[in-house]
Amino acid sequence: MSALKSIFGKDVDTTSSTYLGKPTSRVDGPAKVTGGAKYAAEFNVPNLLYGYIVSSGAARGTIKSINTAEVEKVSGVVKVLTHENAPKTAYLDSSHRDQLASSGGAPFRPLYKAELEYSSQPVALVIADTFEAARYAASLVKVEYEVAPHETDLRANMGKAHPPTVTRTGYVSAPKKPRGNPEGAYDAAAHKVDVEYSQPIEFHMPMESYASTVAYGEDGKLTIYQKTQGVQNCQEYVCSVFGLSSSDVQVISPYMGGGFGSGLRPTYDIYLSVLAATALRRSVRVSMTRQQMFSFSHRPEAIQQFKLAANSDGMLDAVTHTAIEETSQNEEYLETVVNWSGLLYNCPNVMLSHQLVNLDLASPADMRAPGAVTGLYAYECAIDELAYEAKLDPLAFREKNYAEKDQNEGKLFSSKELREAYRQAAEKFGWSGRPLEPRSMKKGSDLIGWGMASGSWEASQGKAAAKLVLTPDGKLVVSSATSDIGTGTYTVMTMIAAEFSGVAIENVTFELGDSSMVYAPVEGGSWTVSSVGSAVKTVCQELRDRLFKLAGKVDGTPLGDTKIGDVTFANGAMHVTGNPVKNVTYAEALKAGKIDKLELDTTELPQLAKQATHALYSHSAVFAEVSVDEDLGTIHVTRVVSAIAGGRILNPKTARSQIMGAIVWGISMALEEEGMLDDKVGRFMNHNYAEYHIPVNADIHDIDVIFVPEHDEVVNPLGAKGLGEIGIVGVAAAVTNAIWHATGRRVRSLPVTLDKLL
Ligand code: MOS
Repeated sequence: MSALKSIFGKDVDTTSSTYLGKPTSRVDGPAKVTGGAKYAAEFNVPNLLYGYIVSSGAARGTIKSINTAEVEKVSGVVKVLTHENAPKTAYLDSSHRDQLASSGGAPFRPLYKAELEYSSQPVALVIADTFEAARYAASLVKVEYEVAPHETDLRANMGKAHPPTVTRTGYVSAPKKPRGNPEGAYDAAAHKVDVEYSQPIEFHMPMESYASTVAYGEDGKLTIYQKTQGVQNCQEYVCSVFGLSSSDVQVISPYMGGGFGSGLRPTYDIYLSVLAATALRRSVRVSMTRQQMFSFSHRPEAIQQFKLAANSDGMLDAVTHTAIEETSQNEEYLETVVNWSGLLYNCPNVMLSHQLVNLDLASPADMRAPGAVTGLYAYECAIDELAYEAKLDPLAFREKNYAEKDQNEGKLFSSKELREAYRQAAEKFGWSGRPLEPRSMKKGSDLIGWGMASGSWEASQGKAAAKLVLTPDGKLVVSSATSDIGTGTYTVMTMIAAEFSGVAIENVTFELGDSSMVYAPVEGGSWTVSSVGSAVKTVCQELRDRLFKLAGKVDGTPLGDTKIGDVTFANGAMHVTGNPVKNVTYAEALKAGKIDKLELDTTELPQLAKQATHALYSHSAVFAEVSVDEDLGTIHVTRVVSAIAGGRILNPKTARSQIMGAIVWGISMALEEEGMLDDKVGRFMNHNYAEYHIPVNADIHDIDVIFVPEHDEVVNPLGAKGLGEIGIVGVAAAVTNAIWHATGRRVRSLPVTLDKLL
């Protein structure tokens, strides 16, 4: 109990549940630390061939010729696939759109045509009987290009910015309609800021490389071991692209070494491995090198302009927010960037706009809290500037303009304990002693600064299913085709199943990551607990109903004519509440019903009627302290306190670790990460872990995570909002604001590196 108190603050009732709300270690921990957990490129398949990708050396133009004469002399080489000889796949662009593609556009098809779409795209696949032979032979492929001029510089192409022409229904909300008169209000206001913020391209770059192992069955059926956040999305994609029936394609992904959004859409290794396997009728593995991973997708570069104004009382009166992001030539990637600025604070006059610039780069992709991270980094910095203009403490300014309703929609929040999050985090941080003026605090020769920011993310629920099997030995197996990208899905689903089935947790197994399991959406959007978890809850409640009925068949049942509401389900048995002696075990119930395997499945839909009248969001309050060496410009984030209002916290242990990881990433975003393009050649120059900077342990200091309790019966049947993404939102803004407070310098482009401070 004391451990819980330190995580939760106070007053959280955890006694009413057996498992939920109790810190629980990862059930998959032992498999991971002993090497028992298998990843996509580790599955042993007999007679496996290896494909090695040859990447384009030009960004735009045409492939004139591909000379493979030397390649075919290498011992072990089986085939070289190029756009000239690759078997044709589905003709229509629509057949190449996976579940997360925008409504229009032409998703990238490897080895499809001579015209190039971006630098480092795959242009050939060398297939050999060893990885080493394939890799060596790939170095001998000679590609000649007819190079055409390319554009990879967002700022230089701002004149081509256009509103999106497509949609991504269900994932992205278009900018909300303007309200009031933002221009007039801005002109008349007492305090104003007119600023531009920019952030570079960032990469997901999970530790596990993108990989696909295709086992080619004797009957031509494919079993694909894939690194993915969505086995069923991959299965549908492969079937659609290659014209295969769903019964012939099974996609399996039990573990993932990080995803962060990179595995939501099928990575191009799956296209190449299936292409090779079906062409050669052999099993094939294709994995990407670290460098090649930088050529799949990224968080888009963004340039954002703000005109914000407050009246003389410090009330926010005008918000104009324009975001311009890059996308590829072939697809419009969309994320929700600007609506947060119309949502977070009361403001009568708002204008929001989101535009795209097509560049000769790979399509961007969702990356943790897509859009919100980008929009709220810049907005929360601009708000900090406005608060200072109004000579108000940045926290006081936010509290003054606190929105009790979703300002975009005029709806009440299903729950929103952001005010309490501000209070608890500020108290823990010691914010009340903060001087308003920058450059007011020193420690030795270092300048000290304190900054804060708010964060928000959607609490969404989608359709999902869960299946269970109960056997007379008292073991319960629950499954759904979701994934565990490291967030703790195996563990939390096991806890939910144990809680609502009354089977002891050590007798519960949760299985995932197989396209043949019952339906689950891709794991992303922080919706897995709410979607899959709700289905698990429901199917386990249905199990109790079934078992209770079966208990009535037990000879001289000890439950007598007790109503189900007066029965406790625990430790694999039912007993009259308050009288554990009068019990029927689940095994006895199955036996009475002559059932040797009880199977149930259910599909859970969001309670739309209830949800439609409310705004569903999680929130965060992030406080950061930095220390800046004035002579060297070096920055250390010495403390971060983040208070999360994320609904009910089901597993405080994995939840805390999730938020800590997100804060580390936020610090990384603030100070380190930058995909650097050489626009002359149109390719990323720092495409490795050495030059694409991320923090090491020595860069990370104190991190404090607080969960602020929220009771929410609207958001979903579990009351949990999901924590995969909220933790990073606002962190980079809090750090940037703290750097200003330390130094008096507003650095308006990420990352804030020492050269920008000196
Ligand atoms: Mo996350 S970007 O929704 O995997």
